[in-house]
Amino acid sequence: MNLANRLKPIKPSPTLALNAKAKALAAQGVDVVSLAAGEPDFDTPEFIKQAAIEALRQGFTKYTPTAGIQELREAICAKLARDNQLTYAPDQVVVTVGAKHAIYNLFQALLNEGDEVIIPAPYWVSYPDMVQLAGGKPVIVETREENGFAPDPDAIRRALSPRTKAVVLNSPSNPSGAVFSRAALEGIAQAVRGHDCLVVSDDIYEKLLYEGQFLNIGNVAPDLVSRMVVINGMSKSFSMTGWRMGYAAGPKWLVSGMQMIQDQSTSNAASFVQKAALAALKGPQDFFVPMVEEYRGRRDMVVDALNALDGVRCRRPEGAFYVLPNVSGLFGRTYKGTPVTGSLQLSEILLNDFRVAAMPGAPFGAEGYIRMSFATSREQLRKGLDRFKEFVTSLR
Ligand SMILES: Cc1ncc(COP(=O)(O)O)c(C=O)c1O
Repeated sequence: MNLANRLKPIKPSPTLALNAKAKALAAQGVDVVSLAAGEPDFDTPEFIKQAAIEALRQGFTKYTPTAGIQELREAICAKLARDNQLTYAPDQVVVTVGAKHAIYNLFQALLNEGDEVIIPAPYWVSYPDMVQLAGGKPVIVETREENGFAPDPDAIRRALSPRTKAVVLNSPSNPSGAVFSRAALEGIAQAVRGHDCLVVSDDIYEKLLYEGQFLNIGNVAPDLVSRMVVINGMSKSFSMTGWRMGYAAGPKWLVSGMQMIQDQSTSNAASFVQKAALAALKGPQDFFVPMVEEYRGRRDMVVDALNALDGVRCRRPEGAFYVLPNVSGLFGRTYKGTPVTGSLQLSEILLNDFRVAAMPGAPFGAEGYIRMSFATSREQLRKGLDRFKEFVTSLR
């Protein structure tokens, strides 16, 4: 027996492997500092937990419509109007089991064999694999650190082809933390305007913003809203990664297609989690302020410490909770007599010999970089940075 051919292009995820190894070491009692996680260390706000408990108590434990309960879809529309100045009707919204599920269903609903999706690098590891699982072809467009990792409109223009079905934008970005400026978004809008394709705006890190203003492409190019899909969810902003709650808003034809995929796979997201999401979206939003301030303090601490190291250069990210230091200045130096030549090798040494888990840049389309998450305590960050410094100073 063989696995289906559709799994052939999918490689085992090096990031999951690294995470698994870090967890296994920790389980053996090894004191590992994990800067690898893509999830907040903050707890889910109490009022959100209470809403889920209340829903359970009231017996709200049955199937709901696949696309989510009407009240939640209305609350999502209200959120999109309030925070993003975007107008959507509830039948243009589908509630999913995490934002990842929304993106997966989107590609399943949209792509035919060989259709292309433009993905600026560095990218979230899952985009290319999800495109390939739907039979599509990821077309990677490089960005430059000097330009703040914003996609270059000319590069997007060159990558567009008659087979391009979508362009994926993720700001604030995982892994770079880059936030695309109005000018950058206007340039991208100009590049895609003449081409009949969707623009996917993955806004999942929207609330984790340290500089400037959050904008998505629909805000700067209202003419593109009719072919934009907004992806968002509760995981990062509301510290709800384990609850699995996301959503998509977009053109009705597409959202209906996504719902059809969902009808035959997961059906609705958990009923009482939908009630929790409703409370989150309608409830007080002031807890973001101290949370973002804390992340900002950690960001500055990490960036300053990294930039003090010879051979390391780190851009100060405007959003999300990752730094993406350029470590290519360390390549060619030797560790215990062996030259360091790549991010995967560097991450392995860090984990095996210095007990720090940091993601290699390569799987994110960012060779020459590593990704460190600052969604962990300052104490852990300090310890991780000290160990990283020890590694850098041990190189010859
Ligand atoms: C850019 C980006 N989009 C989407 C997701 C998916 O989030 P979730 O499925 O937890 O809602 C993640 C999670 O790491 C992410 O980094």
